[in-house]
Order: sequence, then C-alpha cells, then structure tokens
Amino acid sequence: MVDVLLGLQWGDEGKGKIVDFLAPEYDIIARFQGGPNAGHTLYLNDKKVVLHTIPSGVFHPKLLNVIGNGVVIDPVSFKAECEEIEGLGVQLASTLIISEKAHIILPTHKALDKANELAKGSNKIGSTLKGIGPTYMDKTGRNGLRVGDLLQSDFTERYNTLKDKHLSLLKQMHYEEDISHLEADFFAAVEALKKYKILAVDYWLNEQISQGKKVLAEGAQGTMLDIDFGTYPFVTSSNTITAGLCTGLGIAPKWVGKVFGISKAYCTRVGSGPFPTELLDETGDLLRKKGNEFGSTTGRPRRCGWIDLVALKYACMLNGVTDLIITKADVLDEMPQIGLCTSYQIDGNTTTQFPFDIHHTETIPQYDYVTQWEKNLSDCVADGDLPENFNTFIKHIESFTGVKISFISNGVGRNQLIVRK
Ligand code: GDP
Ligand code: IMO
Ligand code: MG
Repeated sequence: MVDVLLGLQWGDEGKGKIVDFLAPEYDIIARFQGGPNAGHTLYLNDKKVVLHTIPSGVFHPKLLNVIGNGVVIDPVSFKAECEEIEGLGVQLASTLIISEKAHIILPTHKALDKANELAKGSNKIGSTLKGIGPTYMDKTGRNGLRVGDLLQSDFTERYNTLKDKHLSLLKQMHYEEDISHLEADFFAAVEALKKYKILAVDYWLNEQISQGKKVLAEGAQGTMLDIDFGTYPFVTSSNTITAGLCTGLGIAPKWVGKVFGISKAYCTRVGSGPFPTELLDETGDLLRKKGNEFGSTTGRPRRCGWIDLVALKYACMLNGVTDLIITKADVLDEMPQIGLCTSYQIDGNTTTQFPFDIHHTETIPQYDYVTQWEKNLSDCVADGDLPENFNTFIKHIESFTGVKISFISNGVGRNQLIVRK
C-alpha cells in the first residue's frame, strides 16, 4: 500500500516534520513531484535541517528514500544537499534511489525562470527561481533531459542542443546572463549524481509494493499551488495533489491507502497571487513573528492570514483526505480571537465554493471566531490536555470539512505531536 502525505494550502504546512514523525511506520519514503523549490524543515536532535529534493525520511537509517520520475532535479543544489546530509553521518549511497525518468534542471532553465518573471513585471508569480517552470515546460514540450540521459555517451551533445535553444530564447527576451561559469559546476554535479542508485523506479517500487513494503509518498508545495486546481496562474508547475503520486511514481490508484492532508491552524502564502484570508494588519504581522513565517527556501517573509475552510474543504475533496493534520496550533496561543473563514462574498452573493477567478474578482471572506484558549498548547501532550476553546476550534474544522483530525502539531520537534483518539 502507498499512503500519501501532502499540503492542503499554499505550501510550508510542516510536511517535513510530519514525514519525519511518521517515517518509522514505513519502509520507503518517496517524493513524487516538485523539486528544489520545496523546503522541508525537520530537526535532527536540536539541529535544524531543510531538505529540498531529498525525501524527509532520510534520517531514519532503515528506510529507503526515493526521488520519483515526477520530480525535477537540479544536480548542483542536489550535490550541495547530499554533502550536507552526508556530513551528518547519513549513508545516502545505500539509501537513496533516483528515478531514471526524473527530469534535469539545467543552468539555462534557472536563467529562463528569471527572464520569465522579469517579463511578467508586476504580474510575476513570485517563483523561487529554481528553474522549476522552464524544466516542466521542456518535459511537456518533449525537449527535456532525464537522469537516465546522464549515463548516455551523447549527453553533452544533447545538453548543448538544449542549452543553445535556451540561449536563443533568452536572447529573444533580451535577458542577459553569463551562464558559462555555471557549467563547470553543473558537469561536476552531474558526475556526483551518477554515484547514487539510478533505477527504473516504476518497476522497482511496484515490486516493493507487491512484496508488502509500506510506502509513504511525500508531497511538495500544496494543493492551492497545483497546476490544475490551484490559484492559476499563481501556482507551481506540477500536480501537487494525490493524483500526482500515480504519475510521479508510476503507481496505480488501487494502491493508494491513507491520504494525510496537512494544514496550518492558520494560513500562509509566499510569492504572489490570491489569498482571500490574508491579514495585512498587526494580526498578520503577529502570526508571521510568532510562527517564524519566513520561507525555508528563499527566506522571503510569508504572507499570513486566518485559516480558510472554503479552500481547505476544496483541498480535502481534490485529495480524498482521510486524515487531517493541523500544524502550528501553538502559534495561535495568546491570540485574543481566532478567525475561520466559512464562506466568501462575491458580488453580493455568498458562496462556499472556491471560485474560478479569484484574482480579478473581489472575494470578501466571512468569518466565525473562536476566543482565546488561555493555555499554552505546547504544554499539552495528550488529547485530554487540550483546552476547551481549542477543541471548539478543531471541531469546527472537522465539521466543515467532514474529515477527522488525527494529529495536532504543537511545536517544531519531531515528537511535539498530539495523537487524537
Ligand atoms: P514544509 O515545506 O511543509 O515541510 O514546511 P516548512 O518546513 O517550509 O515550514 C514549516 C515551518 O514550521 C518549519 O520552520 C517547521 O520547523 C515549523 N513547524 C512545523 N510544525 C510546527 C508546529 O507545530 N509549531 C511550530 N511552532 N512550528 C512548526
Ligand atoms: P514546500 O514544499 C511554499 C511557490 C512560490 C511561488 C510559486 C511558484 O516547501 O511547501 P516555483 O518556484 O514553483 O516556480 O514557484 O509557488 N512555492 C512554494 N511556496 N512552499 C513551497 O514548497 C513552494 N514551492 C513553490 O513561492 O509563489
Ligand atoms: Mg517549505
């Protein structure tokens, strides 16, 4: 069986921490989409580690970690990440498996990302500029290079053909950047990548599943950044939802078991695009400060606001969430009152559906409020310790979405997690 864990908002819901917590119950952790735009934070004892391309099960020695075909890999940042993790004593050569079908991010993909954003001006996506969009464009445009191609004798030739194509595009866009000095690093990183296990992950993973091995698929980004269902065009370039694991790993839907969907107890977004419940006042600033809401990959301040149950219910529907996980609940301690958006008002009409065009339409969120729970949630260890007002808050989420909350995260540590009975 394959369980999946993914974000239900605009990313950064705390996926890294929860995968790290659940990992001992699994044999294999597999990333199925996204790339180094992701930043998944976890703590190894007291040391903070941010993972970008490598799955978050990597600190559990008995597990195998898989990078699926749906992921895009930047050899340069991948090499730096491997070196950091190997420096912490992890044997990646024997525990990391990379799909031969995963696509490669070239230095010119990153230049194209910057050129595209510049060309969009004030309409820019707010991309992490890691080359994600251009690499997926080359994948669907049938021009991309894959990990398996690195092992072929004509790789350099194919690299040069694609690079030249990119350079002429960049010229047309009047974007100038000397990438020649990046190429030595790129080719050195390609050699380093070849040292890891490169496999037909589709066959290998299906074989593991048929032998009864338990797999946890780890999503990156979040449902509202999904290329089809997110706040398009302010999205990433992959399918971040449950369906993405089938195409991103080569696994048939019949193998999908539990769907763990993660949401913060409030909401954040980094980069541009619609965010109906955004708080542009002191409350938003307080959430950013208390939640330490600065991007794990780019360091940018995250936009903050109240939890959006309309968007959350939509995300639960798209993903078939079986178990909800609420993170960063502790950040809301001391807030005098806590908002939950239960509908939008658009052109004088009330709706509980996430609209098609939220960018050009004024969407006014309608809120219910819960009053402060005069207790530090980080002091709670069991379900029974949770204060009454907090229980009202989570019951509200459960009844609106129709999904049970299985875990509540109340701190950054691996074990700061309350299991709900
Ligand atoms: P991911 O991309 O979904 O893995 O999330 P990030 O790592 O980008 O961002 C989540 C941030 O919240 C990280 O800094 C985590 O250490 C932190 N975090 C996770 N869970 C909790 C929690 O329950 N409480 C608090 N205060 N911080 C948390
Ligand atoms: P994790 O896995 C939060 C956002 C970017 C931008 C948009 C497109 O850590 O939750 P891209 O680089 O994909 O072209 O950016 O998506 N974005 C994320 N926001 N967490 C992430 O990953 C993100 N990955 C991309 O900020 O708005
Ligand atoms: Mg993140």
